[in-house]
Amino acid sequence: MFSRFKKPEAGPSASAAAARPAAPAPAPKPGISRPAVAPARPPAEAVAADKEKKRKERLGELKQELHKRLLDNLNLAAIEQASEANLKAEIAAISAEALDEMSVALSKEDRTTLNQELYDEVMGLGPLEPLLKDESVNDILVNGPNRIFVERNGKLTLTDITFKDERHLLRIIDKIVSAVGRRVDESNPYCDARLADGSRFNCMVPPVAVDGSLVSIRKFKKEKLGIPDLVRFGAFTEEMGLYLQAAVSCRLNVIVSGGTGSGKTTTLNALSSFIDNTERVLTIEDTAELQLQQVHVGRMESRPANVEGKGAVTQRDCLRNALRMRPDRIIVGETRGEEVIDMLQAMNTGHDGSMTTIHANSARDGISRLENMVAMAGIEMPLKAVRSQIASAVNLIVQASRLQDGSRRMVSITEITGMEGEVISMQEVFRYERLGVEPNGKIIGRFNATGVRSHYSDRFKQWGYDLPASIYEPII
Ligand SMILES: Nc1ncnc2c1ncn2[C@@H]1O[C@H](COP(=O)(O)OP(=O)(O)OP(=O)(O)O)[C@@H](O)[C@H]1O
Ligand SMILES: [Mg+2]
Repeated sequence: MFSRFKKPEAGPSASAAAARPAAPAPAPKPGISRPAVAPARPPAEAVAADKEKKRKERLGELKQELHKRLLDNLNLAAIEQASEANLKAEIAAISAEALDEMSVALSKEDRTTLNQELYDEVMGLGPLEPLLKDESVNDILVNGPNRIFVERNGKLTLTDITFKDERHLLRIIDKIVSAVGRRVDESNPYCDARLADGSRFNCMVPPVAVDGSLVSIRKFKKEKLGIPDLVRFGAFTEEMGLYLQAAVSCRLNVIVSGGTGSGKTTTLNALSSFIDNTERVLTIEDTAELQLQQVHVGRMESRPANVEGKGAVTQRDCLRNALRMRPDRIIVGETRGEEVIDMLQAMNTGHDGSMTTIHANSARDGISRLENMVAMAGIEMPLKAVRSQIASAVNLIVQASRLQDGSRRMVSITEITGMEGEVISMQEVFRYERLGVEPNGKIIGRFNATGVRSHYSDRFKQWGYDLPASIYEPII
């Protein structure tokens, strides 16, 4: 299927890649750390690195040869039923025989690595497999076959893992997308999918991806971060947690706003823990990531069109249908298009306590995003009417942010209080104040109340959440 992208075979391409002059290193970006650059290395280290590189290349070539032999020798139909241990033993036996035949002697360590990599090729996603298993990795970002970045603790790092070449990368992509009945090629160059373990996957292949296929994976975490975890990690304070508990329990409509990877979905998931177990909650997402703990949860996932361009079910379709399913609350994973109209209407008409996330850099920016989405959905409504619809639908905007040092924090909690003339009025109740930067780049800061009492205090009280006045008092 990827034959259109096939490169002419000019000898083993692992060594061809090595012979190629190294691409110029891009200028270092803040937040992206890279391994040391070669010229700075003392000669002994450079020799060792060269030896290690050659060893890896040799292993890569062997792996390719053995992979071919495995595919010829393994009974692929029987693989499905084989246990992991049996299959690993079988792979070890076939590869030992092949290495013997080729008169190749490998150390025990190299053999183990090779056999694990072969297992990952046959059963899993090849070079991505160890990264998928690594619990400390949040995101995996592939920029062509030779550059795989990972995000750990909010920081991006270039790994030394590579694909053999673009064809190898395309083969793995094909494995992923064909498992969900999709296809990527020149005419359908990108695709969203979910990996078997629930991770969110997106890819874009050449020629649209200019320097080789682009892959982004947001790893699925079985153990979602809860409110206590987020407080422990310094994402917000216990007082802010109390306030948010009151807001969600009293059915305020909440929008979590933030940039990419800032922790919006994590925050939304954690906030949902305050929803009462007796409520019927419907969730709508493009890729199902939320994991609500309530008993009565209906999950929906939108679906893109098939190859013939048919069968699409949009978030808006799900949302419209959800309104007929007697929900107490509706949670939309991310509002990014025309579904905004139905979301605002749902929030305005009896489904209070609904929540969603949007991509925006501040609460005010979030409002503009909502206005733009309404305009782009083709609704011809005067701006003032749109604003008043937003003002009465949305009660609270929680701003999530990933700071330069990689930490994720709830940098602002802002209430929408109504309209003043043509403008939506809001008040910030809590904010994160930056106080400086440590020499190691860590940001010094603190959460503080702004001194304004919540616009919803009376509502909180009526619902039995009598928050102490002290939580609104700022530290001077
Ligand atoms: N406060 C936090 N502390 C540590 N890790 C966090 C925190 N919040 C989120 N994360 C981790 O950061 C990653 C990104 O979080 P999340 O998926 O919630 O971001 P997002 O804003 O929804 O991203 P996207 O824009 O891609 O949808 C996840 O792996 C998550 O586990
Ligand atoms: Mg998200």
